[in-house]
Amino acid sequence: MKSPWTLVFLSPLLCVPTAWAVSKPNFILMMVDDLGIGDLGCYGNTTLKTPHIDKLAEDGVKLTQHIAASPLCTPSRAAFLTGRYPIRSGMASHGLIGVYIISAVSGGLPREEITFAKILKEQGYATALIGKWHLGLNCEHNTDHCHHPNTHGFEHFYGIPMTNLRDCQSGHGSIFYNVRNHIPYKALSIGLVTLLLLHIKGLVLISRRFALCLGAILIMTMALFFLWVLTFPYFNCFLMRGGEVVEQPYVSENLTQKMTNEAIEFLERNSERPFLLFFSYLQVHTALFASPRFRGKSRHGLYGDAVMEVDWSVGQIMQTLERLKLRENTLVYLTSDQGPHLEEISIHGEVHRGYNGIYKGTSIWKAFFFTPDFYPENSTACFHTHACFCTEAYVTHHDPPLLYDLSKDPSETNALTPNSEPNFSAIMEVIMEAARRHTQSVKATEDQLSALHKTWKPWLQPCCSSLHQLCMCQRDPQTGIVENAAEGHGD
Ligand SMILES: *[C@@H]1O[C@H](CO)[C@@H](O)[C@H](O)[C@H]1NC(C)=O
Ligand SMILES: *[C@@H]1O[C@H](CO)[C@@H](O)[C@H](O)[C@H]1NC(C)=O
Ligand SMILES: *[C@@H]1O[C@H](CO)[C@@H](O)[C@H](O)[C@H]1NC(C)=O
Ligand SMILES: *[C@@H]1O[C@H](CO)[C@@H](O)[C@H](O)[C@H]1NC(C)=O
Repeated sequence: MKSPWTLVFLSPLLCVPTAWAVSKPNFILMMVDDLGIGDLGCYGNTTLKTPHIDKLAEDGVKLTQHIAASPLCTPSRAAFLTGRYPIRSGMASHGLIGVYIISAVSGGLPREEITFAKILKEQGYATALIGKWHLGLNCEHNTDHCHHPNTHGFEHFYGIPMTNLRDCQSGHGSIFYNVRNHIPYKALSIGLVTLLLLHIKGLVLISRRFALCLGAILIMTMALFFLWVLTFPYFNCFLMRGGEVVEQPYVSENLTQKMTNEAIEFLERNSERPFLLFFSYLQVHTALFASPRFRGKSRHGLYGDAVMEVDWSVGQIMQTLERLKLRENTLVYLTSDQGPHLEEISIHGEVHRGYNGIYKGTSIWKAFFFTPDFYPENSTACFHTHACFCTEAYVTHHDPPLLYDLSKDPSETNALTPNSEPNFSAIMEVIMEAARRHTQSVKATEDQLSALHKTWKPWLQPCCSSLHQLCMCQRDPQTGIVENAAEGHGD
């Protein structure tokens, strides 16, 4: 399960003696996909080196209690951008799948939502999103961009409107292979064997035609499934610059390098005016990748390499601020979108998940109204379904809720009872009242993650070339790698 946590550093905001600078600080927000709090040196990791992020923590503020609004990308990011619980914008799913998996769907962050980018743009800021969006793209045709970052206040966008998935990199398997776990093999084989036995005994007559038909349907279904998996990257793993698709499908290897370069250029271009940069890293979500310079460099496989590359990128951004003399007037914030994806084991058996660490808050009560049905039992992950689902068949409800005192029991092993915690009912009353108030304040709104809004609509398919070319294209100049350029910037 991805358990919600977030971390944050604020570099001190100091006044500099220019008029706009005092009233208009710059903002750099960095979000690392699926990073675990336990992956960073400043939160106690001794084997994974993250010196640049540690430096942020050292020079700024390190938060130990800062919670993501959802344990999944799409809703968590909707909340991050708007400051509202995802359910208020229709971005909280009531179904099994809580995120967008294909690009040609009609759901997304509604236009009317007020993002921080919109507010700052109105205030005259230069605004940019570099990296992952994952909050929808189109509504009615494939270029209306009703949910595109440009519509939500980001003037400049370079990145992926979707999310990085296993399917986006060859050799990393497919997220769709997980359907295997949902096929009722046992029931199917019992049914088939029973039918066969009845046929042999002469109790049921299965015509040759019926058997052939069944076989044909089976083969067709499998062929369609593999065709879907095979073509998936072409239609869903693409890179955009503004409103234009520039690389379809993208090659991820050097993407963090390219995006870092893009971010540096944005800072250089806008050093004379207030700016907002939201750098939303594709790493460390699977399919994991790292550029040649970082591959094989960590003690934690490709996952560790990817964390190290993000850390390098953070260092590049901070060096650029220093060089442009903007450090004292820029608020820098770094966070994960939630916790790590604990079930991520690569198809070759390598551990591709982050580490949650152990929560070290003080005097924090945590109540669970329901918990996912973990597998294996008593673990904190759902290996049988690859992610924990929050719908009825996959959860256990608790009444009264399970209550933990994180100051005494950070790993949440012993649920409190009225016997072990004398103040149990008073604490529960406060929590229940807060939950009641929240529930009452939720107004009905269009569900952006309804089945209809998540289904593939061919007419919404972004396509960089033509269908018979599988939409492939390569429009951005293939500037090699940026490491030299970035190093050249120096400090
Ligand atoms: C550091 O992070 C790696 C990768 O998530 C993890 O496997 C390891 O246990 C962590 N080490 C410590 C000491 O926390
Ligand atoms: C899970 O935890 C419960 C309560 O601590 C215990 O009774 C049960 O035996 C555990 N199950 C397994 C498989 O360890
Ligand atoms: C019991 O809990 C209530 C509500 O959180 C709090 O106001 C009160 O101080 C607590 N009393 C004790 C003895 O902890
Ligand atoms: C990534 O950059 C390296 C140079 O560091 C280059 O050798 C490699 O071909 C690049 N990969 C891709 C896919 O462009």
